Amino acid sequence: MENQPMDVITAINTRRSIRRYTEEAISEEDLHTILTAGLSAPSATNRRPIHIIVIRKKETLQLLSAINSHGKMIEKAPVCLVVAADRNAQPVKELYLNDGSAVIENILVAVNGIGLGAVWIGVYHFASWYNELLRITALPENLIPVGLIAMGHPDEKKVTGDRYDPTKVHQEIF
Ligand SMILES: Cc1cc2nc3c(=O)[nH]c(=O)nc-3n(C[C@H](O)[C@H](O)[C@H](O)COP(=O)(O)O)c2cc1C
Repeated sequence: MENQPMDVITAINTRRSIRRYTEEAISEEDLHTILTAGLSAPSATNRRPIHIIVIRKKETLQLLSAINSHGKMIEKAPVCLVVAADRNAQPVKELYLNDGSAVIENILVAVNGIGLGAVWIGVYHFASWYNELLRITALPENLIPVGLIAMGHPDEKKVTGDRYDPTKVHQEIF
């Protein structure tokens, strides 16, 4: 880690989706920090069903970007993570999707907190590329992809501002 990590509130509030990356690799130390943050997420009944596939091979990154028009940034990312839930460990779909989403958000915040950039790429089970994703990642039948995360050293800056919205906050009843 080159710089000191941000304080947690700054890391959360300044996180934005970063879709352009320099060619610089992500260090093993940073990757370890990011993966640790992901796996530190809460988990329903602490079943911890989430697995993370780290993809760095250029040809795999190209394959993943080619199958999803919303995931074109994967091609230029030095790392793409596939977050998948083991439904043998947590059979309740709502819960394993929540667990996976918590892992993804922890990762996005950690990435921003150490000065890198990332974007969450959604996985839709009805998408035409879903089976291709399963094939590329060799996920067994019980592992359900929850989301992908493309990440790298940012090559774009996003304006960040206060997103507090009083119309979204309700006291006691809606
Ligand atoms: C479930 C989910 C799926 C997403 N899928 C994609 C995607 O496929 N491609 C993409 O470029 N961004 C994707 N995003 C990122 C959103 O577009 C982004 O979070 C939103 O525009 C708000 O911008 P911000 O992340 O900079 O705050 C996804 C975000 C979430 C939460």
